[in-house]
Amino acid sequence: TVNGRKVTRSVRPHQRLLDFLRDDLNLTGNKEGCGAGECGTCSVFVDGVLMKSCLLPVAKAQGAVIESVESLASTGELSLLQRAFHKTGASQCGFCIPGMVMAATAALRANPFADREEIKERLGGNICRCTGYQKIFDAVEMARDVQNGRLPATALGEIEAEQGDFIGRNVRRIDTPSKVSGRLKYAGDMVVPGMLHVQVLRSPHAHARIVSIDTSAAAAMDGVEAVVTAADVPGEDGFGVFVNDQPIMARGKVRYVGEAVAAVAAVDLLTAKRAVAAIKVAYEPLPAVFDIDAAMREGAPVLHDYAPDNITKHIPIRVGDVEQGFAQSDLVVEETYSTQAIEHAYLEPEAGLAYVDHDDVVTIVSPSQNITHHRSMLARIIAKPISKVRFIMSPVGGGFGGKEDMIYQGMLALLAMKTRAPVRLVFTREESIISTAKR
Ligand code: FES
Ligand code: FES
Repeated sequence: TVNGRKVTRSVRPHQRLLDFLRDDLNLTGNKEGCGAGECGTCSVFVDGVLMKSCLLPVAKAQGAVIESVESLASTGELSLLQRAFHKTGASQCGFCIPGMVMAATAALRANPFADREEIKERLGGNICRCTGYQKIFDAVEMARDVQNGRLPATALGEIEAEQGDFIGRNVRRIDTPSKVSGRLKYAGDMVVPGMLHVQVLRSPHAHARIVSIDTSAAAAMDGVEAVVTAADVPGEDGFGVFVNDQPIMARGKVRYVGEAVAAVAAVDLLTAKRAVAAIKVAYEPLPAVFDIDAAMREGAPVLHDYAPDNITKHIPIRVGDVEQGFAQSDLVVEETYSTQAIEHAYLEPEAGLAYVDHDDVVTIVSPSQNITHHRSMLARIIAKPISKVRFIMSPVGGGFGGKEDMIYQGMLALLAMKTRAPVRLVFTREESIISTAKR
């Protein structure tokens, strides 16, 4: 029984409850942030117990009562907790929030008088990358107090502001109701008729020459609509935030483990995965470099021909007369400073939907943080006038700058152009970590 309705379906033995809810029942409120039981975005109730639906085979849920986030506001009326999240501003990108609301609901069901420490403990299985958690805990405490009569229900009401008088006042986020209810559609939640599913073949090598790519077996499989490689790029390949040195898919050689080599569009995800496994790539491994110092040494393997010393960019910062400044200083400190690589770990893995519209405009819907830049790069890459390329920004489930790069939109465009069908790609957490550019 799902959200009060009896559901009878045949399922694959190992299909996860999360996929069953999202793909088969189109209940996309609960999300997949990690697929590994770590983040809690997929949290639902199974027979009243909070569970991570990415870990549960749906077959094990036979006969169970399932409640997803959609059940909390099924009549359109937000629950007490959801209204408290709205009131305190406890949602930013919103991607964690459906799971967070479920965990908070479980917390107050388990103990309606839970104090802040217990609330923290009970929400410990859910990760949020945006809020810093305090507003979330505030919301749960507020809901608890309204529920117990310690606060009046009006505490959750609108903040009254006189007409036009907003400066210096708290106002409620207008997009919170769609986030706390799971109604907001991120790119990975979007489904359109006739949509194909995309999977990507990735490099197992840090550095290797591509000797050959044989896609014939994959292309011949039932349900496979298209396979693309760098050979399908019609224009001038290469994108980047500062330097356009990343090809849509590896061209001639691969430069990191996880680099895209080929992409498949198929009628379903399983077929796309099988087709990816059927693509044969012959590599000739090359010596690789794994740190900056090694890359700058004499004779180091060269990654890009345009930078034979492996230095992509040198940005000198010089202000005033440095020598004179040193001469006049009481103390001169000379050091080499470096910073670590940072994984942004936004909770929404990359996802996108692409199609060629009725006016022949190649359209990409994705959580890009720089759609105008992406648009101009893609137009050059697919050799179209910019008026024939459109980017639509879907809600960004966290980015922190990490979604400024155009990692996968080019592959989607090529597949949409080749199939003339809508195509969708949703990264796994692993793909997000290995294949996107980091700070
Ligand atoms: Fe299930 Fe992260 S815990 S998607
Ligand atoms: Fe929690 Fe963005 S609001 S991850």
